[in-house]
Amino acid sequence: MNATVLSAINEQINSEFAAFYTYLAMSAFCDQQKFLGASKWLRLQSDEERGHALKLFNFVLARDGKVELKAIEQPPAEYESLAAVFEQALKHEQRVTTQINALYELCFTQKAFAEMTELQWFLTEQVEEEKTAREIVAKFRLVNQDPSALLDLDRELAARAVHVQLLRVHVRAERAHLVQAVELFLRLQERREVHLVAARDLAQDVERAQGTPLVQRPGAARGHGEDLHGSATSGPLTPYQRLTRRS
Ligand SMILES: [Fe+2]
Ligand SMILES: [Fe+2]
Repeated sequence: MNATVLSAINEQINSEFAAFYTYLAMSAFCDQQKFLGASKWLRLQSDEERGHALKLFNFVLARDGKVELKAIEQPPAEYESLAAVFEQALKHEQRVTTQINALYELCFTQKAFAEMTELQWFLTEQVEEEKTAREIVAKFRLVNQDPSALLDLDRELAARAVHVQLLRVHVRAERAHLVQAVELFLRLQERREVHLVAARDLAQDVERAQGTPLVQRPGAARGHGEDLHGSATSGPLTPYQRLTRRS
């Protein structure tokens, strides 16, 4: 691996772990304020960030690079309000987008092609992350300090977390439940009750539970449906392919 690129990716691994830590601290703050829905949502988000760190971690190892885990900065423990937590989350995601863009540019100038492909996932991910955070911030601005509206919003945030956790339980259960779990998840995704990235993570869980790839990998033997990069091939999509299709 190119040394400059490797060092920048190691920085990004640290930054993803820092995000994991920050969202976890935010989750604790919300729990203490008894906004349990927001707390659950943030806990789930923190899991996703840990997933991002591990995705890059695994990538570096697969490229025979040296992973360097660095110290993680102490995250803030106090926020002015519940709304301030999500304002910070949005700002954080915007910073990460800038980082990923810079990293992608570096890979481009260094002709690090495999790394560019890996980072494309993160570019897509950031669009989704910023969009979700922006929508939540907009709702907080709308409800302002109205207590009943705040409680409704907290319940709405709880819904996402509960659905994802329930489905993870399904996935860990017997094989017979897997297809039902995926179908349910698809319906939730259509109703925008779950995050696209959570859907992709779930597909990976399903794959692990099944022990066989359920979605066609790029470069794998040509089949029907659509591969992970969303290039169309002929034939109907399986539930798993629909689940992992990029929208
Ligand atoms: Fe991330
Ligand atoms: Fe993020």
